[in-house]
Amino acid sequence: MTVWASPIKTGRTSILRKHFMTSKILQPRDRLIVGLDVPTIDDARAMVNTLGDTVSFYKIGMQQVFAGGLDLAQDLVDQGKQVFLDMKLLDIPNTVSKAIENIAKLGVTFTTVHAYDHVLLAAVEARGSSNLQILGVTVLTNLDDSDLERMGIGMTAGELVLTRAKTALNLGVDGVIASAHEASAIHSVVGDKLKIVTPGIRLAGGDAQDQKRVMTPSLAIKAGSDYLVVARPVIQAQDPQRAAALIIEEIANAA
Ligand code: C5P
Repeated sequence: MTVWASPIKTGRTSILRKHFMTSKILQPRDRLIVGLDVPTIDDARAMVNTLGDTVSFYKIGMQQVFAGGLDLAQDLVDQGKQVFLDMKLLDIPNTVSKAIENIAKLGVTFTTVHAYDHVLLAAVEARGSSNLQILGVTVLTNLDDSDLERMGIGMTAGELVLTRAKTALNLGVDGVIASAHEASAIHSVVGDKLKIVTPGIRLAGGDAQDQKRVMTPSLAIKAGSDYLVVARPVIQAQDPQRAAALIIEEIANAA
């Protein structure tokens, strides 16, 4: 199959094949990742109870990890939920490698590392044949072209996103974090071989809050996003379960 005719080394082919097969059987419900951006772990547990069976996938970020979030991640995994542990790791390869080995033991589905080649490679090798999937953070969304110029990077943010997405693909990474606005450009460069995980989602007419470039679930799925990360539109809704159900319905209709 052409998908596997890329120059990626044989040792990684089975990992990529697993990714390809997984992506083909994604259910709409499993494409919504609810960010548990609430003040305490008790609040997070209460939100998980409120959302019940409607939501199958949760994101736990640094804020929660430093306040008991790893125990919560473990409990969610034990309940059969999927967990995206958003750690955005960046360190020397040996340290990244040891961190990823420990994250893999938690049984979570996704974790993030910054998309520098040595970090990506260390992460992919360290997760080995575990079920942990590695997502690359291409360019933080708070950085624009002038920030990158000031940092001495001779590329626009758009160019850097695509360069790092290509690197991620060649190193056997599973996916990248990208806005829905970047999704089609990424697909045009790497095909459908990288999962695209997209924050900045708002239901039509919803308040964008601090997100600058938002998209509806429907448009994001049509633009090529595989997973949508949504926090406030669900967790601050009057009826979070209904808000999540509406998003899942939009995903199903757009897929
Ligand atoms: O509340 P809202 O839906 O805007 O939250 C989006 C979630 O995705 C938050 O947890 C935020 O930290 C995360 N995120 C983001 N932009 C990125 C990466 C992660 O909004 N580039």
